[in-house]
Amino acid sequence: MMDAPHITNLILGQPYAPDFDDVYTSTTGGVEQSRHVFIEGIELATLAHKTTPRVQIAELGVGSGLNLLLTAHTWIQQDCLPALTPVLHLYGVEAAPWTMDQLAQYYAHVVAQHPELTEIAAQWQAVYPPRMEGAHTLCLVPQRVWVTLVWGDVMELFEHLDHHGMTADNNPMDAWYLDGFAPSKNPAMWTPEVFEAMSTFSQPHHTRLATYTVASEVRRNLTTAGFALTQRPGLPPKRECLSGVFRGQGPL
Ligand SMILES: C[S@@+](CC[C@H](N)C(=O)[O-])C[C@H]1O[C@@H](n2cnc3c(N)ncnc32)[C@H](O)[C@@H]1O
Repeated sequence: MMDAPHITNLILGQPYAPDFDDVYTSTTGGVEQSRHVFIEGIELATLAHKTTPRVQIAELGVGSGLNLLLTAHTWIQQDCLPALTPVLHLYGVEAAPWTMDQLAQYYAHVVAQHPELTEIAAQWQAVYPPRMEGAHTLCLVPQRVWVTLVWGDVMELFEHLDHHGMTADNNPMDAWYLDGFAPSKNPAMWTPEVFEAMSTFSQPHHTRLATYTVASEVRRNLTTAGFALTQRPGLPPKRECLSGVFRGQGPL
């Protein structure tokens, strides 16, 4: 069993990681920030119109799972043509998976503020895998949403994708969420190696990314890895956030 992460302020709905001196989700409305930065950042709604059987999104830094389950919730809400809408397969990597008790404390707070999330939050906790290193695939919404959680270091996600035959040409990732604590506090989640690995599973002019940071080194390294970036207005108190699309490698 992996060690439990040290988290404070869970009961207030503002989980904080003393080891990184950073918050897991925004202290000013984690749900609204997540929808704005990630779900709108990758234009999730447009992915529902893809003609492929599956849409795939990967998150670096699962934490509470809030971004993933909000994505699933949005997907099934907009699912007005169930027979035609692709199945959503979410991937996530996390070095320090939350315990069931930590999830229960946090989601009690989330659903009190957002009752519309009661069912999906309960389902997330019902299918949440044991904290054993490696990959765990689970069905979050029958016939609509699958989730593969890789419990381990960020680079292990790419090993998993590679091992399962995913490439940029064959079965690429449609979008990436980058949510690994602030780059200044946790540079290991924002290295050129991570961005380079993302690019090997990204389809030119298609695969998107979203993150809340606009740190200049992150932008520089993402650009070098082949992503064309756009700084979008953030939700207050954040001034800006970042989205991008993979343009391919080589000259602009
Ligand atoms: C800001 S939190 C993620 C919040 C999350 N997306 C949510 O919806 O709650 C960052 C996460 O990245 C994880 N993390 C930090 N370094 C990591 C690494 N090297 N590999 C994998 N995960 C890492 C942390 O344990 C933490 O859960």
